[in-house]
Amino acid sequence: MQKVMNWIDARFPLTALWESQWGKYVAPKNFNFWYYFGSLAAFVLVLQIVTGIFLTMNYKPDAQKAFESVEYIMRDVSWGWLIRYMHSTGASMFFVVVYLHMYRGLIYGSYRNPRELTWIFGCLIYLALMAEAFFGYLLPWGQMSFWGAQVIVNLFASIPVIGEDLAVWIRGDYTISDITLNRFFAFHVIALPLVLIGLVAAHLMALHETGSNNPDGVDVKHQPKDPKTGLPLDGIYSHPYYTIKDLVGVIAFLIVFSVIMFFMPEMGGYFLEANNFIPADPLKTPEHIAPVWYFTPYYAMLRAIPSFLGTQVWGVIVMGLAVLIFFAMPWLDRGAVRSIRYRGTLYKTWIAIFVVSFLVLGYLGVVPVTVWGQFGDGVPLLGGADRATVVARIFTALYFAFFVLMPWYTKIDKTKPVPTRVTS
Ligand code: HEM
Repeated sequence: MQKVMNWIDARFPLTALWESQWGKYVAPKNFNFWYYFGSLAAFVLVLQIVTGIFLTMNYKPDAQKAFESVEYIMRDVSWGWLIRYMHSTGASMFFVVVYLHMYRGLIYGSYRNPRELTWIFGCLIYLALMAEAFFGYLLPWGQMSFWGAQVIVNLFASIPVIGEDLAVWIRGDYTISDITLNRFFAFHVIALPLVLIGLVAAHLMALHETGSNNPDGVDVKHQPKDPKTGLPLDGIYSHPYYTIKDLVGVIAFLIVFSVIMFFMPEMGGYFLEANNFIPADPLKTPEHIAPVWYFTPYYAMLRAIPSFLGTQVWGVIVMGLAVLIFFAMPWLDRGAVRSIRYRGTLYKTWIAIFVVSFLVLGYLGVVPVTVWGQFGDGVPLLGGADRATVVARIFTALYFAFFVLMPWYTKIDKTKPVPTRVTS
């Protein structure tokens, strides 16, 4: 075996690659629950690619045949239902995992110097993932596929001057059509997966250059070396220690994943919407159009922003900024410490406000704006306004306040001293 490895290593740096990226990668020894989600995201990415390949073998990107071909996969193709449910459950679970992974980055300050590029690659992954999910959602050619795409592409049409032409350019037609389906298929099965794989590779290379952060935010890489092991005092090799830990995470994840996939694959309409079991009908608009749950916080913002100066583009701008603002985090945070463990009340309060805003907006994006009725005519300024819209505006403001006020509250926040060693 060693001879074979020597032969390969003389021609290709296989051992060097393995050791620099995982085998001999020194990681802090105090990774906790929140550190499962990076490897889980990688696991789900592979799962989506593999199940996607098998779906593509029987799916037909043709407006006349797409819906039927999905039904054919579900009913007639051997194990087709399993592959399809793995892929549809995988899509939602990808966002669950990635949202938890990003939240970990927030609470432990993993986006801060020197990991800005790891964070930026992460933000690009998030954008690519949203595009990937959006393109994929059109493929089953159900009512929600069609009308969801219609709503999103029309957002581009609201851009002044070039909007209408831009929307036609994206669709390749004056309406969502077979042509649109074909190009979305191309983006979904090849263009964006390639981008995602490239970005994930860059994300991990950047992380392995700087070294991982950890729940204490202690700089392990620059600690004195343990004379016995030659490693930093709180460092351990990823292999075998985190190989085993991550495997435990994968097994736990697969248990949850299987329960959903086998017992509630539609997840009460959140993972697969009822309207999408009806073939796309350009002549019949569904009564209530809502995107899949992972987009709803942004959708709620979009609906909450009123048109102004005769254009509706402001909602689109706010929605876009809500995603793009994540890129600025490394430069917005002026706190003296990284981890939430050593931050003060101000930061903790603001991150709580952010999480609550994200969840409330997520809920409001799912339900119709009329869900809580309207303010009565007697209420000054608000008479006749949908209550849910007003609440969405307040939480949109709070969502942005978390970012915009960050330079201020992180600076004056009373932090605790960070120890030189990790605490657990
Ligand atoms: C396909 C999606 C993604 C994959 C496969 C992925 C993979 C990983 C892996 C394997 C790690 C190292 C293990 C860990 O720290 O958990 C990691 C770390 C990290 N990721 Fe991601 N990631 C993804 C998306 C994102 C996104 C969307 C963001 C943020 C916007 C992000 C930000 C980070 C940061 C800041 C770290 C360093 C964490 C630390 O050292 O504390 N990642 N990622």
